[in-house]
Amino acid sequence: MCKNCYITTPIYYASGYVHVGNAYTTIAADTLARYKRLEGKETYYLTGMDEHGLKIQEAAEKQGKTPQQLVDDVAEHTLGLWKHLGVTNDGFIRTSDPRHMAKVSELFEKFLASDDIYLSEYTGDYCVACEAFFTKTQLGENNTCPDCGKPTRKVSEQSYFFRLKKYEKQLLDFIKANPDFIQPETRRNEVVSFIESGLEDLCVSRTSFSWGIPVTSNPKHVIYVWLDALFNYLTAINYDEHDDSLYQKYWANNKEIYQLVGKDILRFHAVYWPIFLMAAGIPINFKLYVHGWILMKDGKMSKSRGNVVYPYDVTSRYGIDALRYYLVKELPIGNDGLFTYERFFERYNSELANDLGNLVSRTISMINKYFGGKIEKGSVATPFDKDFEDIINDTIVVAKEEYSAFHLQNALTKVWQIVTRANKYIDETAPWVLAKDDAKQEELKSVMYHLAEALRIASTLLAPVLIETCPKVIEYLGIQEEMSVENLTFGYEYKNNVVSSLQPLFKRLDVQKELVEVNTPKVVPMDFKSNVAFDDFEKLDLRVGEIIECKKVEKSDKLLVSQVQIGTETRQIVSGIAETYKPEDLIGKKVLVVVNLNPAKIRGVESSGMLLCASDGKTLQLVEISNVNSGVKVK
Ligand code: MSP
Repeated sequence: MCKNCYITTPIYYASGYVHVGNAYTTIAADTLARYKRLEGKETYYLTGMDEHGLKIQEAAEKQGKTPQQLVDDVAEHTLGLWKHLGVTNDGFIRTSDPRHMAKVSELFEKFLASDDIYLSEYTGDYCVACEAFFTKTQLGENNTCPDCGKPTRKVSEQSYFFRLKKYEKQLLDFIKANPDFIQPETRRNEVVSFIESGLEDLCVSRTSFSWGIPVTSNPKHVIYVWLDALFNYLTAINYDEHDDSLYQKYWANNKEIYQLVGKDILRFHAVYWPIFLMAAGIPINFKLYVHGWILMKDGKMSKSRGNVVYPYDVTSRYGIDALRYYLVKELPIGNDGLFTYERFFERYNSELANDLGNLVSRTISMINKYFGGKIEKGSVATPFDKDFEDIINDTIVVAKEEYSAFHLQNALTKVWQIVTRANKYIDETAPWVLAKDDAKQEELKSVMYHLAEALRIASTLLAPVLIETCPKVIEYLGIQEEMSVENLTFGYEYKNNVVSSLQPLFKRLDVQKELVEVNTPKVVPMDFKSNVAFDDFEKLDLRVGEIIECKKVEKSDKLLVSQVQIGTETRQIVSGIAETYKPEDLIGKKVLVVVNLNPAKIRGVESSGMLLCASDGKTLQLVEISNVNSGVKVK
């Protein structure tokens, strides 16, 4: 059996913060990675950020940042979030990483040399949000994007094309020869019919914006984000580097590669990606596991709908395990799931607080009460023991299969059978009755032993999801060994006593109270940045400036370029304020300017400074000042 395992998530767009919907892939992948480590596999779990493309460039312009500043901020936030959620990624690839960029450039040139890529003219309907062109037949009503529903734009440019068509048959043959390449089967069928309807060559370069990897031999073109981004799965593990041992171990010589993706990006991973690999002569060693979406009552979570829930909103009140459990339990393989607080509280109370939390506290307190904390097998069985034991052993086998098949919801449901059966077993055996009868002490021991075993085994199998709770339960049982599913079976010899007292694992929630809480607009704590020394503050040179000229930046809806008089000097400054201000309205305004920022090129236009604005992300206003001459210091 293969000892290595490579697990990847798609890399997240660095245009904004991750919400509970798109946190799903990462939490699901983390669950799988933790499970594989419990199996004793050497596991490399990769996630990262997709940092190029028009979407990022426009988001940066909107926020008055350079694209690099934006992606740095978002990457830092996202890494912090993954850490907070207990995500155990081994790698974090960013597509602005020079190593990644260099390798993608090389591959592009290689594809040009092999004539897999050629230069031609393209006119098409482009969705900026999805960074994809769509054919007329794919477009929704009024030329909207079939994936996200946003309006597409006509884009016409000289472009490079990838010969997808050339690989059509080879890909179909591959998918037919490897029936488990795309899972679940419904997604595989979707892909097969997409390919059978005929592939068109793919436009793989853009000239209408600059934020991307330039084509080395023709730098006015930048490489299409998907060609750039998909190769992250290889550049992150040092493909074609001097030391490529990670690549050799986790890709070239590995048959256990899980690539997890949401259904919205199936085509990119099931069609383009394997074709790119075929053209590059790299083995297609991975399997694609496609999951559905976490939906809100009113559809997909999106900022424009105003229905976004962020992971911190949930974890700050209910803990990390509750969120991880909910998301993993909610998504059936191949279908969508729902996030509502009503459903979340229901699951929290009935499954986590009642079923599991109560089972743990009842079991530990009974073992203390009846046997001073000691767990022993007991020489006389009750009539219910055999059946309970069989259920536990059967669950181990099935849950392991479900995890490995990435049927995470099924795995949880299966393990929960141990938990619910254990609660029923307590009612059946009525330990409090046995305790009163001296002749029944061996049966009572056996009951306690069975309950401890149920907890030990359920906790081990749930540990990939309930990352804080399960290690606690194992500790409560006095077990010091590392958890493992390798030889997991009923029959452990307990050496230590259980803990003498414990805090409840999940406190029951008052649903009505919590609903009021989550529906009341929050007094959000101010996310002030950390303190800086006065000397550092003094490094900033803030001045009063007067806008004397202003016009729109060509081909941009968001940017204005102003000439700003600052005392005796005139500075050219680009700002992302065109959605709020018309150029003519700004002439004569006195504003605050940071004058000693390093100059930057935004959309090819030199900018030497920054106009200060107040913005909450939705509205924006320039900070104006009157009765002070331009050039005066602000301190
Ligand atoms: N950048 C691309 C991936 C490039 S991979 C070479 C991308 N990024 S994303 O940020 O939009 O999405 C990241 C992951 O979140 C994807 O797997 C996507 O399917 C998933 N989800 C986004 N919204 C989701 C839900 N509401 N529910 C579940 N997963 C969803 O796509």
